[in-house]
Amino acid sequence: MNPFDRIAPLLFAAVLLETVLYGGFERGLLGQSPQCDPTKVMTTETCLRCHGNEVTQWKKTPHFETFENLAKNPRASEITDKLGLTSVKRNDICTQCHYTMQAEGDRIKPIAGVSCESCHGASKDWVNIHNDYGGPLATRDSESAAHRLERLDKSVGLGMRNTTNVYLIARNCLQCHTVPNEKLVNIGGHVAGSDSFELVAWSQGVVRHNFARTGATSNTESTPERLRVMYIAGLLADLEFSTRAVATATTKGTYGSTVAERAGRVSLRLFEIQQEIHDEHLERALIAFASAQLRTDNGQQLLAIADEIQQAGLAFAKNADGTELAAVDAWLPNPRNYK
Ligand code: HEC
Ligand code: HEC
Ligand code: HEC
Ligand code: HEC
Repeated sequence: MNPFDRIAPLLFAAVLLETVLYGGFERGLLGQSPQCDPTKVMTTETCLRCHGNEVTQWKKTPHFETFENLAKNPRASEITDKLGLTSVKRNDICTQCHYTMQAEGDRIKPIAGVSCESCHGASKDWVNIHNDYGGPLATRDSESAAHRLERLDKSVGLGMRNTTNVYLIARNCLQCHTVPNEKLVNIGGHVAGSDSFELVAWSQGVVRHNFARTGATSNTESTPERLRVMYIAGLLADLEFSTRAVATATTKGTYGSTVAERAGRVSLRLFEIQQEIHDEHLERALIAFASAQLRTDNGQQLLAIADEIQQAGLAFAKNADGTELAAVDAWLPNPRNYK
């Protein structure tokens, strides 16, 4: 039997029947925090020394602006009031996703909005490794392709998220953009995730900062091959984090039903694509998800499935070049819709 015939009925059952969440009892599962380790945050001032163009571009984004604007937004005080919090900058709920925190002695303080390190990882351990072309005499032009990969892989080992595996970056986006916090959504009234989030459309507009790849001052568009990889990596990361989010749902309600529907919707899109591309990693993720029961009080199963999707996502995106994924072009967003 063709494996897709096997996945399809399971998947539809998981999506159409079991998105109905039933009320459960309180469970202690908490989402992981998207916050960087504050003791390893170096700040964008550090990056600025060598990445001036990237910093200039970043300053045009809502990620930068949220640092100044969030506290002034009346919606923010409505949310903090409902949660019984006094200020957006002085609680570890809002700061998890809206700010970058840095340790200063015993204190941890907000130093920026969603910064370079929020996406690329707190940099203390890798900042002096990731840019080493191979000794003081080596240059960008003298570096071999193999050395470049070795340097970037080594940096990943030290906590960096870079272009060698875009799934690492995509995971981060979705860890914030699925808003995996039930109380924040159901009691605080925070938006239940960015429902139109899609990695290509959301990273190729104002967020894009592709200067390094050409070593020039122009912000080059990503190649179609790269966009295909990003598109699928984004959907897989969405599936991973929507599944994680369902794992923490304790009641029916806006949060639980939104994240469950989201997981269902994303899995169907991936399933459609898989019928065209027949990718082994995508198949692994879909088979794992097909057994998911999207309901409350099922955290253990759902977290195990999310872990499996994560492994599939990492394997998919590792040094992927996208040349064989031309079929994905049919799903890519129109550049007019880039955020
Ligand atoms: C002393 C200079 C220097 C500093 C400081 C620096 N970088 Fe870099 N960075 C580089 C160089 C050089 C490269 C390699 C560019 C190339 O590919 O030729 C690079 C590449 C990168 C890449 C792309 C890696 C890839 O996947 O191709 C990222 C992401 C990055 N830096 C992030 C940061 C962040 C975040 C900071 C601040 C915490 C930072 N860098 C600080 C010099 C620096
Ligand atoms: C899990 C991550 C996460 C946490 C925690 C979080 N936010 Fe957000 N917040 C987001 C994301 C992502 C958006 C962007 C949503 C979009 O536009 O798609 C956002 C947008 C907002 C907005 C603008 C949208 C609107 O409703 O007007 C406000 C205000 C806001 N957050 C307030 C808060 C406050 C206050 C807290 C703390 C009580 C908080 N957030 C905690 C992720 C988070
Ligand atoms: C919202 C998340 C996000 C933020 C914030 C962010 N980046 Fe990136 N960065 C990305 C993504 C996504 C890519 C593209 C990855 C790819 O093509 O695989 C990228 C790529 C890069 C690259 C490689 C670009 C190239 O041409 O290959 C560099 C260098 C870089 N970022 C540095 C920075 C610096 C410095 C900052 C802060 C000023 C920063 N980034 C802020 C998500 C982010
Ligand atoms: C640490 C949490 C965090 C991470 C990581 C993150 N974001 Fe965001 N993002 C936010 C928050 C919070 C907002 C809303 C800011 C506000 O309105 O105050 C936002 C807003 C945005 C917006 C503007 C949305 C709009 O409607 O205008 C885009 C686009 C975006 N993010 C793309 C991305 C992409 C792409 C990635 C990954 C490459 C990413 N983000 C990673 C937290 C995050």
